[in-house]
Amino acid sequence: MERLLRPITEALLAHANIEGCSNALDVGCGGGSQSMILAERLGANAKVLGVDIPEPMLRVARKKSEEQKANQAQVEFLQADAPNAPGPFAFADAERLRSILIDSGFSNIGITSHRMTMCFGEAATLGESVRELAKIGPVASLLAGQDRAVLETVFAAIEDVLEPYYSDGGLNLPAAIWMVTAGVA
Ligand SMILES: C[S@@+](CC[C@H](N)C(=O)[O-])C[C@H]1O[C@@H](n2cnc3c(N)ncnc32)[C@H](O)[C@@H]1O
Repeated sequence: MERLLRPITEALLAHANIEGCSNALDVGCGGGSQSMILAERLGANAKVLGVDIPEPMLRVARKKSEEQKANQAQVEFLQADAPNAPGPFAFADAERLRSILIDSGFSNIGITSHRMTMCFGEAATLGESVRELAKIGPVASLLAGQDRAVLETVFAAIEDVLEPYYSDGGLNLPAAIWMVTAGVA
């Protein structure tokens, strides 16, 4: 996951003005890889709070924070469900995103598009990569409880679609995110 998210993490850190930041909140911290990178960049005088829902993920995150070094920010992971958190692509419409921020009292809103390639390279073959990918996100929810025959049909269909993106032992997927900055007066 850390390798997959690395281009997003680096782009976010390059975009966000974290110089002198003393508190950071990582909503959807997962296994904590981005929180730990943030802790490293912010340094010893800062605090990072990571929140997510599944306890097993938070246990992985807490294990990472046990290996924290003295020059890193203090990191804590809490189980919390961000209220009304949107699903995938809920923020695809930048104007909707802007109006939510305005309605929430934010100003100086900046929204820029950032495109990159994300490499999912945890497995050796295309078939293995597809099966790993299908364990996370909305696909995992859709496939939960399906029988083997259905799974194999779906995996074969996903392999057909993703085959052009597979090379050198990894799936290199085009990706895009919004970089959003905003402040409260
Ligand atoms: C792409 S993962 C983030 C990975 C993580 N930042 C890392 O460094 O590995 C998105 C995370 O958002 C979490 N999430 C989704 N809805 C949430 C909610 N309502 N409240 C808190 N976390 C949520 C998911 O459980 C998932 O771990």
